[in-house]
Amino acid sequence: MKKILIIQGGGRPKGNTARLVESFEKGAKEAGHETEVVSLLKHEVKGCLGCNACRYGKPCIQKDDFNGLVPKIKEADLLVFASPLYFWTLSSRIKAFIERFYCIAEEDPNPPLGRYESYPVKDCALLMTSADNFFWTFEQAVSYYQFALVNYIGFHDRGMLLAGGCGDTNGKPQIDKTDWLSKAYEFGKHIYD
Ligand SMILES: Cc1cc2nc3c(=O)[nH]c(=O)nc-3n(C[C@H](O)[C@H](O)[C@H](O)COP(=O)(O)O)c2cc1C
Repeated sequence: MKKILIIQGGGRPKGNTARLVESFEKGAKEAGHETEVVSLLKHEVKGCLGCNACRYGKPCIQKDDFNGLVPKIKEADLLVFASPLYFWTLSSRIKAFIERFYCIAEEDPNPPLGRYESYPVKDCALLMTSADNFFWTFEQAVSYYQFALVNYIGFHDRGMLLAGGCGDTNGKPQIDKTDWLSKAYEFGKHIYD
């Protein structure tokens, strides 16, 4: 049994991304995992100010909801980042949330080349939705995920589900006309097989 924290960075509370999260969570729960969804619509997390007041081990000076989420982040085995594709990358809500990892970094006396601090060891996964569905659609989002979260921060990738072709945000979510919800359920159910 793993503790799974899902960060929902979509703009529509009942949109495609929220639906994808629901299916993933259902699968993960059925596999016996403990899950929690944090919606960045309900929790305000602003981008990092770069003031460095947090280094090392001190809470962020910003008065928003991030510090309250830190214990959940630290307790989780797996962090799942869920986002619609906005202008070919992750939503600004998810990006702001990731920026705030700056204040959970720890001093690393012997950092490897190109890294300056260490981060808690976690697994991570990516769930995304988009309107387009070309081979390049998620290129920038995946590149950021792999470079920043996996290569730099050092999280262990458990996989990605890139749900292209879910329609635009004009009107009702279209994801139930695709097979992405069943794929998300299976992804959640088998993420630790
Ligand atoms: C501000 C904005 C930017 C978007 N940019 C893209 C894009 O670059 N490529 C794309 O395929 N879809 C884009 N879309 C469509 C959304 O990614 C797609 O409709 C997504 O499923 C919406 O998720 P939601 O229903 O959870 O809000 C954009 C939508 C919005 C509102």
